[in-house]
Amino acid sequence: MLENIFMKKNYTDNDIEKYKNWLKENLSEEKYIHSIGTMEQAVKLAKKFNVECENKIKVAALLHDCAKCFTIDKLKEHIKNNQDICIDFDLANYKTYHAPVGCCVAKKEFNIDDEEIINAIKYHTVGRVGMNDFEKIVFLSDKIEPKTRNAEFRNMILNELDKNNGLNRAVLLCFKTTIKSLLDRNLPICKSSINTYNYILSTVIEKK
Ligand SMILES: [Fe+2]
Ligand SMILES: [Fe+2]
Repeated sequence: MLENIFMKKNYTDNDIEKYKNWLKENLSEEKYIHSIGTMEQAVKLAKKFNVECENKIKVAALLHDCAKCFTIDKLKEHIKNNQDICIDFDLANYKTYHAPVGCCVAKKEFNIDDEEIINAIKYHTVGRVGMNDFEKIVFLSDKIEPKTRNAEFRNMILNELDKNNGLNRAVLLCFKTTIKSLLDRNLPICKSSINTYNYILSTVIEKK
């Protein structure tokens, strides 16, 4: 088991540094760079969309992939041992397992109990019906951070973000792109992704 080293509920710059150090030890270099990029991107989007919670969104974005480098066996073990957190999570695609497990790590090992942070980590792969702006920002920052993500896709999403109702439009474009890609590669699509797609679509269509 991981050492239980984080007890605070208010997130200071010192906490952020501790989380970074933990990630440095537990992620590949590329995933560590991606995590930093996601955090920096999330701060920018939070300012753009007036979500006032700088260090909170930093924590969620920084830790979103904290379980990304766990082996599949370790991920399955966490899921089995943390049914209280994972019971409602759609496990159709193993590539999404690190999201609920990351939530377990944040909750049980780092003592993070803030619901927005927990939800943002847990649903950063498949989203959820009713996801709020905080979750949407973490979701999008993961997809478009400039350090490791594709520049062309990033520019497409940034273009959506500048439009009216941009946050929802950008999330919708992400889901469309991901679902199309899964179809093209004959890969399974989680039902929860389709539910989120339908939900986000409704928020875009209704506001046209
Ligand atoms: Fe992820
Ligand atoms: Fe990520």
